[in-house]
Amino acid sequence: MTRAAVVCGLGGAVPSTAVPNSALAAQLDTSDAWIRARTGIRRRYVIAPGEATSDLAVAAGRRALDSARRTTGDPHADHTTDLVVLATSTPDHPCPATAPAVAHRLGLSGVAAFDVGAVCTGFLYALATAASMITAGAAQRALVIGADTFSTILDPADRTTRAIFGDGAGAVVLRAGTDDEPGALLGFDLGSDGSGAELITVRAGGSRQRSTATPPPAGDEFFAMEGRSVFTEAVLNMSKSAHTLLDRIGWRGTDLDRLVAHQANIRILRAVGEQLGLAEDQLAVNLDRVGNTVAASVPLALADAAIRRTLRPGDRVLLTGFGGGLTWGSTALHWPSALHVEPVPGMADPL
Ligand code: UT7
Repeated sequence: MTRAAVVCGLGGAVPSTAVPNSALAAQLDTSDAWIRARTGIRRRYVIAPGEATSDLAVAAGRRALDSARRTTGDPHADHTTDLVVLATSTPDHPCPATAPAVAHRLGLSGVAAFDVGAVCTGFLYALATAASMITAGAAQRALVIGADTFSTILDPADRTTRAIFGDGAGAVVLRAGTDDEPGALLGFDLGSDGSGAELITVRAGGSRQRSTATPPPAGDEFFAMEGRSVFTEAVLNMSKSAHTLLDRIGWRGTDLDRLVAHQANIRILRAVGEQLGLAEDQLAVNLDRVGNTVAASVPLALADAAIRRTLRPGDRVLLTGFGGGLTWGSTALHWPSALHVEPVPGMADPL
């Protein structure tokens, strides 16, 4: 048995303002029927004016730390938390990173804290980074958060992206343990393909545009996505990454009890599930209630499945994600017993 990072806390948060499909249909040339049929999404949440990504990250982080305290039975568990990694591509400010402020607000001032940017794959990248620091002995306990507020970068007139994306945060606490323990992260597959960078992008606001010292063309400040190509790439790369990871850890697709994949589109989830030989009821799905929450997507889906008890102790679980960059990543674990997860206010509200 070797040193490994073990999941011991889990939490999530969504803002208080719900936006059902009917609200979008009242503003844009779209319909509840189109959005449900093409994406499976029925509702998303958006932050209020003046709110920011860190507010959601702090709420999710606090719940995850509380979950770790209850799960481990150690009221002082936070004292050993020495790392905060925040996955986001909508930081509070272009500079500095958002993680140090989040750590400070959680009472973790002084710990190592930094952001990771891999868009919708951000949480998997952050998890791999924190787990590697734990296994290397560079950290003992890590809070890993995925948080995004894409409502702040969407084009208000773009019916496609507004139908899909929502704001949210999800967080996991990792502790140092051994690879034979339930909850141990058993390995990672991470990858990227920068030739597809233009498929998911915000053209303006970075050094490429700002160095021109001229205002960007109208609309370049908004998030833009080539939906159809991204759909194909998402299915291909999540399936490939999942298979690579399974080979690496000696599992087959049919060994899996549950797939917790990036919540972009129900048709993408079904296609990836099919590639792995899984039945539809083995797929974790919460996109109907929260939409695509970008870096928060995988941990929020995990929290939802844990709360609804569709994840059972001992289950073989595979997490996989895909996003801008292009980027992708996967990890797997046996679901731990007695993980205490608090309900995420809003997420379970009736549709
Ligand atoms: O999180 C990062 C990864 N992101 C993803 O994985 C997203 C992947 N892509 C998708 O999920 C899908 O491609 C979308 C949901 C974005 C679009 O669905 P689609 O079935 O691929 O639609 P499409 O882009 O092929 O468009 C079909 C039609 C078009 O109209 P025409 O050209 O056929 O007249 C669109 O203009 O649907 C139209 N359309 C809409 N109609 C009503 C696009 N968005 C909407 C909308 N309401 N919201």
